[in-house]
Amino acid sequence: MRLIAAVAKNNMVGQGLNLPWYYPDDLAYFKSKTKGKTIIIGRKTWESFQGKPLTDRKHIILSSTLEVPGVKDVYVTQTPDAAAFHARETFKTAGEDVWVCGGASTYSSMWRYVDELYITRIPERPPENKGSSYFPHVAVGQIWYLSREERAGDLRVDIYKRR
Ligand SMILES: NC(=O)c1ccc[n+]([C@@H]2O[C@H](COP(=O)([O-])OP(=O)(O)OC[C@H]3O[C@@H](n4cnc5c(N)ncnc54)[C@H](OP(=O)(O)O)[C@@H]3O)[C@@H](O)[C@H]2O)c1
Repeated sequence: MRLIAAVAKNNMVGQGLNLPWYYPDDLAYFKSKTKGKTIIIGRKTWESFQGKPLTDRKHIILSSTLEVPGVKDVYVTQTPDAAAFHARETFKTAGEDVWVCGGASTYSSMWRYVDELYITRIPERPPENKGSSYFPHVAVGQIWYLSREERAGDLRVDIYKRR
């Protein structure tokens, strides 16, 4: 399973239900990586989609409170183990065809299943406040650096492998 995140200089990944920046190139990159795949997201990130699944992606929402929304290609699971199970058994996807797409608590919850990380480095330090969320602390020893992709607009993507 892979993880994809855009992370600011202060490790921030979100503000309230939103991204505190706008980089169309990064959104296009996210789409190019996840199109046709299964994405695993937390209930709050799902809420930020306002009921509209992303096109051409199968969704697994991690939540202990959400009712099954009855939307095609959207599945709700209550535990990280169940999310991994349904990626494999319901959507018949595994490995590089499954992406953990946030937010912050979902990155932590799914961490033990992640083999590779695709981290877009956002060249900003958004102001911190009550609704800020952050990429979970990852001990350096848990990952090793694989490569870097330079992107438009001062962005780069660092790719890591889980040890
Ligand atoms: N920068 C990026 O790449 C990126 C990507 C995606 C999202 N984001 C941002 O991240 C922020 C949201 O992050 P967040 O951490 O607040 O929310 P989140 O991870 O999207 O959703 C949190 C919810 O997921 C469910 N969940 C997570 N772990 C679980 C577990 N182990 N078992 C059962 N349910 C679990 C819980 O839902 P219930 O409360 O229903 O149980 C929890 O309240 C937003 O600002 C969003 O814009 C950023």
